[in-house]
Amino acid sequence: MDTLLRDVIRSLRNIHPARLIYSNILATLNNLTKDKWDRNYKSCSSDFPSPAEVLVQNQHLLPDSGTALDLACGRGANAICLAENGLAVSAWDIAASALESLSKKAKQQNLTINTETTDITNDSLVTNTFDVIVVSRFLDRALISSIKNAIKTDGLIFYQTFIRDKVDATGPSNPDYLLDKNELLGFFKGWQIHFYREDGITGDTAKGFRNQAMIVAQKPSLPL
Ligand SMILES: C[S@@+](CC[C@H](N)C(=O)[O-])C[C@H]1O[C@@H](n2cnc3c(N)ncnc32)[C@H](O)[C@@H]1O
Repeated sequence: MDTLLRDVIRSLRNIHPARLIYSNILATLNNLTKDKWDRNYKSCSSDFPSPAEVLVQNQHLLPDSGTALDLACGRGANAICLAENGLAVSAWDIAASALESLSKKAKQQNLTINTETTDITNDSLVTNTFDVIVVSRFLDRALISSIKNAIKTDGLIFYQTFIRDKVDATGPSNPDYLLDKNELLGFFKGWQIHFYREDGITGDTAKGFRNQAMIVAQKPSLPL
């Protein structure tokens, strides 16, 4: 519902003369999101999180050099991992408190990460900018085509997020933020799939990688 509302307002934003009103409604909604996440990060434990499984398992696919973005990075464990792999890393999130934690961690580890407090629904992504984009535990379907466009030819997406077929209460309960079966795979149709996993509720649900789907895909120069 929340996502549907945002999508409708985003579309209305483009209609003259009401554009300003809809932009303001969207900004208010996004400020609520920012406040919610800032509160969350200010109250979370001091233990630094681990990078997403999709990145941990597939680091060997990363290029030796190039530009990488950890999108909706939170405290930026993926950004740290990307920088450790020698990439020039940007990390974007709406929550300034999360980025402060990331900057502190990067400094401790002598890594350079370009952090930006950004509302990524505001057309922040520019075409052909990054060799690698990592997204974990974030889903806004309206941004998928901008994310794909922002990756350079031969560049890679590492994406991992929650599915509707979760086996426990981990992650969001709002179905707007949960992937349908094979939906993540469908986002990258025509790209070279290096890795895909979506265990769902098949087999022994006490084992395996449950609750999230993950993909590593490479952007072709021409659609496959
Ligand atoms: C569940 S957390 C995931 C953080 C991190 N990627 C991870 O896997 O730990 C979702 C993140 O999305 C960020 N976020 C939500 N809406 C956003 C927006 N419009 N622009 C930028 N970041 C946003 C939140 O601040 C939060 O850090």
